[in-house]
Amino acid sequence: MAEENIAVLLDEKRVFKPKEEFVNQTNVKQWMDKHNIKNLDELYKKGENWEWFWEEISKDLVEWYKPYDKVVEWNPPYAKWFVGAQYNIVHDALDKHAKSWRKNKVAFIFEGEPGDVQKWTYNDLYIEVNKLANAMKKLGVKKGDRVGIYMPMIVELPIAMLACAKIGAIHSVVFSGFSANAFRDRVNDSEAKLVITCDAFWRRGKKVYLKEQADVALEETPSVQHVIVCKRTEDAVPWTKGRDLWWNEIIKDMSKECETERLDADDPLFFLYTSGTTGKPKGIIHTHGGYAVGTAYTLKWVFDMKDEDIWWCAADIGWITGHSYIVYAPLILGATSVIYEGAPDWLQPDRWWDIIEKYNVTTLYTSPTSIRLFMRYGEKWPQKHDLSSLRLLGSVGEPINPEAWMWYYKHIGSENCPIMDTWWQTETGHFYISPLPLTPLKPGSATKALPGLSAEVYNEKAEPVQNAGGNLVLTHPWPGMLRGIYKNPERYQETYWSKFKSIYLAGDVTRKDDDGFFWIQGRADDVLNVSGHRIGNSEVESALVSHPMVAEAAVIGKPHELKGESIVSYVVLKEDADPTEELRKALWAHVGTEMGKIARPDEIWFVHDVPKTRSGKIMRRVIRAKALGKDTGDTSTLANPEAVDEIGNAK
Ligand code: PRX
Repeated sequence: MAEENIAVLLDEKRVFKPKEEFVNQTNVKQWMDKHNIKNLDELYKKGENWEWFWEEISKDLVEWYKPYDKVVEWNPPYAKWFVGAQYNIVHDALDKHAKSWRKNKVAFIFEGEPGDVQKWTYNDLYIEVNKLANAMKKLGVKKGDRVGIYMPMIVELPIAMLACAKIGAIHSVVFSGFSANAFRDRVNDSEAKLVITCDAFWRRGKKVYLKEQADVALEETPSVQHVIVCKRTEDAVPWTKGRDLWWNEIIKDMSKECETERLDADDPLFFLYTSGTTGKPKGIIHTHGGYAVGTAYTLKWVFDMKDEDIWWCAADIGWITGHSYIVYAPLILGATSVIYEGAPDWLQPDRWWDIIEKYNVTTLYTSPTSIRLFMRYGEKWPQKHDLSSLRLLGSVGEPINPEAWMWYYKHIGSENCPIMDTWWQTETGHFYISPLPLTPLKPGSATKALPGLSAEVYNEKAEPVQNAGGNLVLTHPWPGMLRGIYKNPERYQETYWSKFKSIYLAGDVTRKDDDGFFWIQGRADDVLNVSGHRIGNSEVESALVSHPMVAEAAVIGKPHELKGESIVSYVVLKEDADPTEELRKALWAHVGTEMGKIARPDEIWFVHDVPKTRSGKIMRRVIRAKALGKDTGDTSTLANPEAVDEIGNAK
């Protein structure tokens, strides 16, 4: 494609239509034919009859131990899905495959950063999960108990999650890039009885000693009775006798069979902590039944998952994308997935393209930040490889800028692969606004709410608005929706359901165009999106303020070419502290210790004061406007308007 054509294509009105021969073979087209549905409009219409729709969809995807009595029970703000069903997600993710022809099908192709490869069949997984589940039972872990998991991208992480689910325990996975303190706080909030971790793992050619980090956290986690340690690198680790146990030793004599606990379809499967507007992350609760249906449906339709596909969701399992689309949905569909341990550009910027060529990956799902990183390295790297196995591409986590969309489309997909820009959240559990492989695409728009789901853009008066920025809302319950915030029903009600009565507030500023396509513009609340990951401004502020030299801090996000947003902080020091370069570095490192490397501020400015209201609330909106050289609006109501000028001078 000539470069001048790209300029035309970047026009918002320009539409990419998928090829007919491709469309005709898709799962969604087959479903439409079966139900006599002629076109997309009719399909969306059918989806409006949502109870009927979810009933139909669930039939093809899951097997209940005991059928449900009712599809949904909606008592705002709480929904129950597949009410009365007995179920366990592990039945669909593993047990049924281990008893079918898929027994010897590869479930996971694992590539370690140093280049070591493992292939795990469904039967291999089944056995390892059963053994670990039996060992956990022996340690006294029971239905409803919480298990904190702190593991990198190795196959034992999904195994640990499935073992918990199998016996009805609730897993709470913490991203291995989070710090010991962040892990400790999440373990304590969930009151985990057991922790599962590993010795160390590889990242950018170096080892990250995770057990050492876990041990720091475990000094202050009174609920934890045992720690299971998996071997990745075979390094020696610090050891607490009586508490710590080697994974390989405790499973050695365990039975290869373990009965899967029959649960209520709405029993909790996991908690996953995500950032909000306060300094404390929220433990989002997801359950077995609805989550299984929602994740499997979306993967089957949006990425057209078929048995012969090699699926690669290049996210980390520590985030919702990995939970839903590396672990649960692909396993329910009996897919073969790639798991890669390390950094995307290690040892060379063509590591990913090498993996795609080597394993004949058919579908790649990643973030705009990664695409922009590869764009920066240039197309010469993908050009070294045969990427012709690819048939679909995906994007998630942040708005994709049209330039990155075009680069991805042209240089990775060779103009043959539709790009599925999927909008969703930790809270939604699965894709919500997303194209189907039939949808005409506009680069930069996640298109429409999928059939069976429904979104709108509201102004402040709860009126739907078109062609203007507004509040993205989800207007009726959906199967994979969160079931609350652990131990915090008030925050659940307040955050999501109070601005518009019984309507879910997503927290994103969005515009709907004349074709009804959604254009997500970014967070409306005080939450940053750094490389597609949610980080609360106030969490970073709390981390800074926990340093003995800091009196106050304000954190804002600035647009960043690669990461989407960068973290900028304004710090007021205590009287006896000197604003030295050394202290700046110490604060940067301190945020790393408190939260994890991903939250370390890109900029730290020392100021005498930060703009505040008379009631003492930090005015991030004003700070951000000033920092970006924009109009700050009326500042006369501030308690300290002079602080605004100081922000402007801190350059
Ligand atoms: O702001 C939206 C952005 O990521 C937020 C959800 O973050 P998290 O719960 O960490 O889940 C990320 C992965 C699902 C959303 O509120 N976001 C997610 N996907 C998109 C997006 N923004 C624009 N386009 C997307 N496709």
